[in-house]
Amino acid sequence: MHKNKSHSALDLKKSQVEVSLKQSVKNIDSYTHVRGESLYVDDVNVRQGTFHAVVFDSPKAHGKIKSIDYSKAEALDGVERIFTYKDIPGDNQIGGIIPDEPLFAEEEVHFWGMPIALIVAKTELIARQARRLVKIDIEELPVITTAKEAKEKGSFINAPRSFKLGNTDKEFKDCEYVFEGETFSNGQEQLYIEAQGSYAEPLENGNIKITSSTQGPTAVQKTAARVLGLSMHKIEVDVTRLGGGFGGKEDQATPWAVMAALATYHLNQSVKLILNRHDDLRMTGKRHPYESTYKIGFSKDLKILAYEVEFLQNSGAAADLSPAIAERTLFHSTNSYFVPHVKSTVYSCKTNLPPNTAFRGFGGPQGMFVIESAIAKAAHEIGVSAREIQEINLLQENDEFSYGQIAKQVEAQNSWHSAKDTFNLKELEKEVEEFNKSNKSLKKGLALMPITFGISFTNTQMNHARALVHIYQDGSVGISTAAVEMGQGVNTKILQIAAQVFSIDKSKVKIETTNTTRVANTSPSAASSTADLNGKATLKACEILLDRLKDVASEDLKVSKETIILKDEFVYVNAKKTDLNWEALIFKTMAKRVALTENAHYATPKIHFDKTKEKGHPFAYHVYGTAIVIATVDCLRGTYTFDTVKAIHDYGKSMSEGIDLGQAEGGLVQGMGWMTMEEIAYDINGRLLSNALSTYKVPDVFSAPKNIEILPLETQGNEMAILKSKAVGEPPLMYGIGAYFAIQNAIKAFNPNYKLKFHAPMTPEKVLMSLYSN
Ligand code: MTE
Ligand code: HPA
Ligand code: MOS
Repeated sequence: MHKNKSHSALDLKKSQVEVSLKQSVKNIDSYTHVRGESLYVDDVNVRQGTFHAVVFDSPKAHGKIKSIDYSKAEALDGVERIFTYKDIPGDNQIGGIIPDEPLFAEEEVHFWGMPIALIVAKTELIARQARRLVKIDIEELPVITTAKEAKEKGSFINAPRSFKLGNTDKEFKDCEYVFEGETFSNGQEQLYIEAQGSYAEPLENGNIKITSSTQGPTAVQKTAARVLGLSMHKIEVDVTRLGGGFGGKEDQATPWAVMAALATYHLNQSVKLILNRHDDLRMTGKRHPYESTYKIGFSKDLKILAYEVEFLQNSGAAADLSPAIAERTLFHSTNSYFVPHVKSTVYSCKTNLPPNTAFRGFGGPQGMFVIESAIAKAAHEIGVSAREIQEINLLQENDEFSYGQIAKQVEAQNSWHSAKDTFNLKELEKEVEEFNKSNKSLKKGLALMPITFGISFTNTQMNHARALVHIYQDGSVGISTAAVEMGQGVNTKILQIAAQVFSIDKSKVKIETTNTTRVANTSPSAASSTADLNGKATLKACEILLDRLKDVASEDLKVSKETIILKDEFVYVNAKKTDLNWEALIFKTMAKRVALTENAHYATPKIHFDKTKEKGHPFAYHVYGTAIVIATVDCLRGTYTFDTVKAIHDYGKSMSEGIDLGQAEGGLVQGMGWMTMEEIAYDINGRLLSNALSTYKVPDVFSAPKNIEILPLETQGNEMAILKSKAVGEPPLMYGIGAYFAIQNAIKAFNPNYKLKFHAPMTPEKVLMSLYSN
């Protein structure tokens, strides 16, 4: 860890200011959240005569539509109209990366839950009743539910991709140990609290405004325009906040918004479409299940020399974001380790499940689980602890990733050793060992989980943002960006930036809704990059305005601009407070007819990636950290609890410690849920069985670790991160992978004959089987 250098008195004062600034920031949404006053799509002001819609979806996973009879549904009192693909004036196409997904099915259905029609009625209840009256006749076709089967049948979304470093074929020959194996990690339901929804309203001249629960307002605008055959300027999309997105609303908020807009287009009336939980679970995609095979080779002293891995991604029935997610799996296939010879390949396999989509980590977690499994297996076979292998293979400064980027400001070893020292790993290991010696039916297991996660959209083109900052003539400030607040606290961070640059009270700053007419052509709020991209644009706009204000102050006070600073709402000259305060300065600026508005653009510098070579420098920087997970398994029941998760996390120089800790804890528990208890199940006909919260279990306060301690790694931060405060949204999820191996180590302590399996989630049922099998 870095030791504090001795500070000068001035430095000390400055750092105290920074500390108090950080600690005093409360999430600006907390007040309305706890009072139940925060607004979501379902809370929009509904225009008189608004219609309500439900989606009629396929009751089969694959087949030819022979006939559909809507007559009874249409005849129901209160039903206004039923829309199908025939009512689409533009393109019946919503695929973003690959145009392979119709908004409404035409002749065939490709997954259970695929939208076929939109039923619009006076009330949602009537629309639901009407849905039951639709008769559909489907000639069933063979259903594929697993990636392996899709691969065998040659059913793919696109061509496979491979990353290569060194020469694995050659290197395996020189390895002392070589192991092969296979792994499976299941999907995961995003389970945002606010289900998917939208509200479309007609404006004049055929313009339409859509309020949507989306992470990607521009994607909604663009797709609505495409489907309706309109120009983008005729569609306005507005987002106040989301009740969670977790990736599930990066792409898949779009169809519901477009459907509502389609109905509004035809009816010239507002239409509200909010999925209920059942509909949402059935119709939307989840984290991709992966089936993977690997081969890993070591030197005598346990250095990983070569690693080959093949990922079969279960993409579902259409591409959605699968190609981008597959790419990120390759980027993270070696996690925090340096491997000199790598060959990783991913197949996006087309199946008859709902198109799987983004989920916190975006394919990265799936990639990391495989190499952690390979290490666990190798350790077991060789007879060492996985910790030994992990530790000696951690990334170091200037190591090369398989995609060509050279690792800089690496904190893999730093966070690992810091975790070991800070939490006294030796003592923890001893406690576990002693506990296991003196207990028969309860066993503990401990695992370490290092993480390395690349920050930036893997698609270089997407790494840009804009901010529109108004200083109103009374000195209050309004900021519009592309950032969508979904609980991650990005609005608070953006507000902090403006308040800090202008040195004004936070109550003077307002973050406006995210709206395509104020900030256009935006990337979704995703890739953990929202605060970096939109925050940097905001910083730039505020700094330009500040410079302008200083011009005015310098003219007014007849001093040179360089002597001026703004501090605590006053102008200072040569560090001496003047009588000119913020409000008066703004008033003067206005009177001089100087613009109080600025629109700034930020595009991440230095990043690039060449897909023809699969090499480049795709990430602005990486986030690092190491977690220690301890589980206790009840060996009579197969149940388990988590005693503790202790992590050292690289926040850079966090600008909002409370928010960032919330992100780290939330991500961790979400990752643990994926690895241990959340079990998505489809039957062989492609019907979702885990279709309610009674059959799909996510971590609650009782199953979360009894103790979570996540401490910041002291680092210098990174210039590419907003105010050196590193992105935090996704990386901590991957600490959850440690939970799988902590449980596995406990099983090993009970059952020495246990043959390691790498099939996540490690549910109590699987634990019980493992405890008593060979
Ligand atoms: N935290 C909350 N509370 N709700 C969310 O929906 N989404 C996660 C993460 N943390 C999410 C969240 C995902 S998938 C991403 S990519 C980031 O937040 C997006 O926000 P950021 O870019 O501001 O970190
Ligand atoms: N992360 C999240 N969302 C994305 C990405 C990414 O890297 N690329 C495209 N959409
Ligand atoms: Mo997050 S999976 O990038 O929305």
